[in-house]
Amino acid sequence: MKHLIVVTLLCTPGAFSALNVTVIGTGYVGLVTSAYLAERHNVTAYDIDTAKIRSLQCGKSPLYEPGLDELLTGNRVRLDFTSDCHRAVKNADIIMLAVGTPSLPDGGTDLRALESAALSVAQNLDHNAIIIIKSTVPVGTTRMLEKLFEESCSHRVYVVSNPEFLREGCSVYDVHNPDRIVIGTRSMEIKPIIEELYRDIIDRNIPCVHTTPESAEMIKYAANAFLAMKISFANELARICDATGASMRDVRCGIGLDHRINPHFLMPGPGFGGSCFPKDVRGLIAIARLHNVPLNLIPAIMTTNDTQQRYICEQLRNALNGSCAGKTIAICGIAFKANTDDTRESPAVAIMENLAQEGALIRVYDPVARLTKTSAHGTQCESWQEAASDADALMILTEWPEFANISLAEARALLRNPIIIDARGTISSALAKREGFTYRGLGSMDE
Ligand code: UGA
Repeated sequence: MKHLIVVTLLCTPGAFSALNVTVIGTGYVGLVTSAYLAERHNVTAYDIDTAKIRSLQCGKSPLYEPGLDELLTGNRVRLDFTSDCHRAVKNADIIMLAVGTPSLPDGGTDLRALESAALSVAQNLDHNAIIIIKSTVPVGTTRMLEKLFEESCSHRVYVVSNPEFLREGCSVYDVHNPDRIVIGTRSMEIKPIIEELYRDIIDRNIPCVHTTPESAEMIKYAANAFLAMKISFANELARICDATGASMRDVRCGIGLDHRINPHFLMPGPGFGGSCFPKDVRGLIAIARLHNVPLNLIPAIMTTNDTQQRYICEQLRNALNGSCAGKTIAICGIAFKANTDDTRESPAVAIMENLAQEGALIRVYDPVARLTKTSAHGTQCESWQEAASDADALMILTEWPEFANISLAEARALLRNPIIIDARGTISSALAKREGFTYRGLGSMDE
């Protein structure tokens, strides 16, 4: 049934029920959000990728995301998939834009997919509606879309910035348990409708930040840049710990107990990767550049991150007496973090590229992620044992729980040299040493 939003809903407060929600884009944000919203609302998930939609219609998720299949199946009755835009927006009260906003070569944000999705919606819309921007977009994009709808659509369209904070690998948990909901709109009258969308969360007193679209857009960049800054800070601290013998594990615990700091996102590692942090830090720098705001700290987050993979290669080189050329390196983990098959901007891929350039032979094992064309610098193996067999060193680059259970005695027997570079602090340095390994962690985890 078609909801005449604003007219019907706002005249009868308390009368809200299931909304008709259309989600444009079935990437991990769009799909997880669709599956979650279908617990209470009637959801249509739209994508221009017909193969993806066909697969979803057959009950097959195109993504590796723990818990997503169950959520999709459980809510299938209120969840429709289509690649017909007219059908997708026909009865929608709320249309969410959750399309990709990748980096441009200059670090700015490529909004072509978002603009094209908005135009398709505008052309097909035959009633008033609320447009929610879920994609991460530069400050000013909501205003830009308001203008686009004013110019290309004869119906009343409210554009809202409502960024997501889902982490890949645990997005099904996050979508049900966010720390906050951010709603950026200039139209006070639609706030109750957005709140209705998230009624189950709001009823649990999870805070809702009401703000302008500009602040909402900025909150998303600020959150990601701050978290990325913590990681770069931890990685630099770990390097100082390596040089001085201090223990990063203890330093993290000692500073993390200060509530103003907290221990999260202070785990040293091979650098942050994925489709969000690198893109969004670069995006924030581009926003500042556009507005002639000089920056020092934020660009340094990226510089530190970019040098972290070289630092880890240097550790390997040292353990191999100065060169990786001609050596076979077993790499455990190519996903940018555990619980995902995503290798986009994965530090492991950058490390593999460095090693391949130096003439190393690489064998890769990841429980889920596969080598792609852009990460194809090695041979894919089906177990860590296969990768380690006759290799000169073993590197752990993703914190998959499986790697914490690597049998060191078995690894010792398989490897040509007993060398482990553990960029995630996954295995016990004390045990590794007892087994006769040369163990290099980060931040003197090898104490
Ligand atoms: C990140 C944010 O955490 C989400 O809140 C946000 O919604 C999302 O980006 C997004 O913008 O869509 P995600 O990229 O899935 O989520 O992954 P994170 O769990 O944040 O990890 C990012 C990177 O930081 C990974 O490479 C991870 O290994 C690394 N990391 C994380 C560390 O090196 N150390 C840490 O202590 C934590």
